[in-house]
Amino acid sequence: MNYISNTHHELTPTNPVIETILSRSAAKYYDTSATLSDDQIRDLVRIGTSAPTSFHLQNWRFIAVRTPEAKARLRPIAWNQPAITEAAVTFIIVGRFADASTVPARLAPVVEAGIMPAHLVPEWEAPARSLYDNQPQRQRDEAVRSATFGTAAIIYAARSLGFGSTPMIGFDAEAVHREFGLAEDEIPVMLLTVGPERAGNWPQKPRLPLADVLSFA
Ligand SMILES: Cc1cc2nc3c(=O)[nH]c(=O)nc-3n(C[C@H](O)[C@H](O)[C@H](O)COP(=O)(O)O)c2cc1C
Repeated sequence: MNYISNTHHELTPTNPVIETILSRSAAKYYDTSATLSDDQIRDLVRIGTSAPTSFHLQNWRFIAVRTPEAKARLRPIAWNQPAITEAAVTFIIVGRFADASTVPARLAPVVEAGIMPAHLVPEWEAPARSLYDNQPQRQRDEAVRSATFGTAAIIYAARSLGFGSTPMIGFDAEAVHREFGLAEDEIPVMLLTVGPERAGNWPQKPRLPLADVLSFA
């Protein structure tokens, strides 16, 4: 059994999930001849959508940019980053402003599945309304939070399948919004390149010491 090294005697055993997380790094160089099938892309996004969202809003959308034509439209409005055209696929991770009126529709399948009793639906909608109604900053924050969780799930799923990935903020948000037909209540939160790698990528960079980022309360 392998353990995560720490200074104490209570050792955390590693497992494939932890190894996947710890071995991920941002991929710059991709196998330019590699493609992912639409079914592989669907699988990645299906896994991504298993991530949690506030009130189960699922306020996200994923645009898989994978044809040469679409990549050529995206690259110039993404700081001309070569990975956009070199990676098998670049996802435009779209966050939608949180809209509490969608809660009943989002929860209907949960009730249908017998997970949640129907009488609880208004008990979720009411606090969602108090949180988000007429609160544009919070609506937008939630778009970013949800999209980020979904992105993270795709990143680690991709890693576990042997694909590299890089989240990217280096793009012109207004241009992406316009060029890819986003709605008024949507923002391009991130781009995420995914695909088989080629040689030359850096390993994961060292992190700040835990003492700098962790405090106990
Ligand atoms: C929100 C976000 C935006 C990023 N934007 C870019 C980008 O536009 N281009 C790029 O090459 N890397 C981008 N990165 C990758 C970071 O530079 C990288 O994750 C960081 O240097 C740590 O490297 P490591 O994860 O490989 O250890 C981004 C990462 C995050 C989380």
